[in-house]
Amino acid sequence: MLELEHTTKTHDESRQGEALDMLATGKSTGRKLYIESYGCQMNFSDSEIVASILLDNGFETTKDYKEADVVFINTCSIRENAEQRVRNRLKEFESAKSKNPGMIVGVLGCMAERLKSKFLEEEKLVDVVVGPDAYRDLPNLIDKVDDGSKAVNVLLSREETYADINPVRLNSNGISAFISIMRGCDNMCSFCVVPFTRGRERSRDAYSIVKEAQDLFQSGYREVTLLGQNVDSYKYTAPAAEGEEQKPTVNFAQLLALVAEVSPELRVRFSTSHPKDITDEVLHTMARYDNICKYIHLPVQSGNSRVLELMNRTYDRAWYMERVDAIRRIIPACGISTDVITGFCTETEEEHQETLSMMDYVKYDFAYMFAYSERPGTLAAKRYEDDIPEEVKKRRLTEVVNKQQEHSLYRLQNFVGKVHKVLIEGFSKRSDQDYCGRNDQNTMVVFPVDERFKPGQYVHVLAERCTSATLMGKIID
Ligand code: SAH
Ligand code: SF4
Ligand code: F3S
Repeated sequence: MLELEHTTKTHDESRQGEALDMLATGKSTGRKLYIESYGCQMNFSDSEIVASILLDNGFETTKDYKEADVVFINTCSIRENAEQRVRNRLKEFESAKSKNPGMIVGVLGCMAERLKSKFLEEEKLVDVVVGPDAYRDLPNLIDKVDDGSKAVNVLLSREETYADINPVRLNSNGISAFISIMRGCDNMCSFCVVPFTRGRERSRDAYSIVKEAQDLFQSGYREVTLLGQNVDSYKYTAPAAEGEEQKPTVNFAQLLALVAEVSPELRVRFSTSHPKDITDEVLHTMARYDNICKYIHLPVQSGNSRVLELMNRTYDRAWYMERVDAIRRIIPACGISTDVITGFCTETEEEHQETLSMMDYVKYDFAYMFAYSERPGTLAAKRYEDDIPEEVKKRRLTEVVNKQQEHSLYRLQNFVGKVHKVLIEGFSKRSDQDYCGRNDQNTMVVFPVDERFKPGQYVHVLAERCTSATLMGKIID
């Protein structure tokens, strides 16, 4: 397994989430929900909506699936191994269910959408299959299972954004939160299953987003990350009430500004940007607000124009480089990260070299790197042969990973000796003698605890040393 597991967790399909112990509303029925999430941050964010819907229906949450009445697994289909992981996990639930036959097992998310009722045939322990746009129907579906039948709802919607549902923050540090600003994707990258599992793109009510950010800030949160598959195509027009004037459309740059205005003490991040759509207006907005973090995730996928065309990414190498130049010009200190796929259909050795040379050009701060995995139903699966042998994909991946390690180290070494504004997120993973938090560019910084400062506060940290993933230093306030 060469895929790099990493720390910012935008779309790392190996993460698991558990619900917090004993969250409940006033009208608890004592039934317990356990929910576990895989895949991108959208899924983690959706699980918070699911928990909110079930808490409203009398459920409590539990951290232990063995004592749960309802076990949900929120799944990812992005690569074959993401699906395999879910299948393995379901096997583990099987023995718990055999001891507790009343336990309801539900599959949510992208795999549910992709496989639909086939899931019920393939995995006998599954009682309910629910796609990403059907979560409001969960209480009703659970009732059906209580009555002795299996239940499926995989309808996709053109409107659903769950805008009015207040997510229950699961596994939260109380400092940073994710806000979904849109759902679905209208791009048709040929390798990608997301348009099929998440449906058409739709943007959430801008005012409900700002309100969520305000509420989070008031409850002590200091960082929000705005989430969408392609945030640059965010576009919201409020429906005009009768006799009222039409309100102007809010684009992504304007939404960023609205959220940044909530408070200068609230950090704003976002993911994912699409190279074809990221505008100078967005870059200028980032430059204008100190509290919009100077960090852009700009997936390149490949550095070669022919491969990009086969991938249907709708930009070429020169366009991508121009966007990187624009970022460097407008926001000189901006961190840039990326996603890379190696061994896409027909990729030659020379074309692979162009991905490596693109990496040299940008010197990414960070990258998520994957060997191409053919997904059933995608354009690439229909049109092209998955003809690059597994060993070649993996060898190219190793080259990409090694190159990225050099660049990550290079970026971090450049941070050493400089002072970084860091939002304290909590104790470091290794020791409660140390705090950790991120700088503007999303790099993890670790430094000794100073009693004067608490998680949720900003401190200035002088970086003294680094590894290829972490800066180490001390508070200088
Ligand atoms: N919306 C984001 C990406 C979402 S999927 C974007 O457009 O960039 C996250 C990443 O998974 C993609 O950027 C891509 O690098 C990777 N990925 C998607 N489908 C894949 C596949 N079939 N095989 C390997 N990697 C894939
Ligand atoms: Fe997939 Fe492309 Fe949409 Fe990203 S932009 S989710 S890679 S189809
Ligand atoms: Fe996300 Fe995986 Fe679905 S990356 S959108 S959970 S296929």
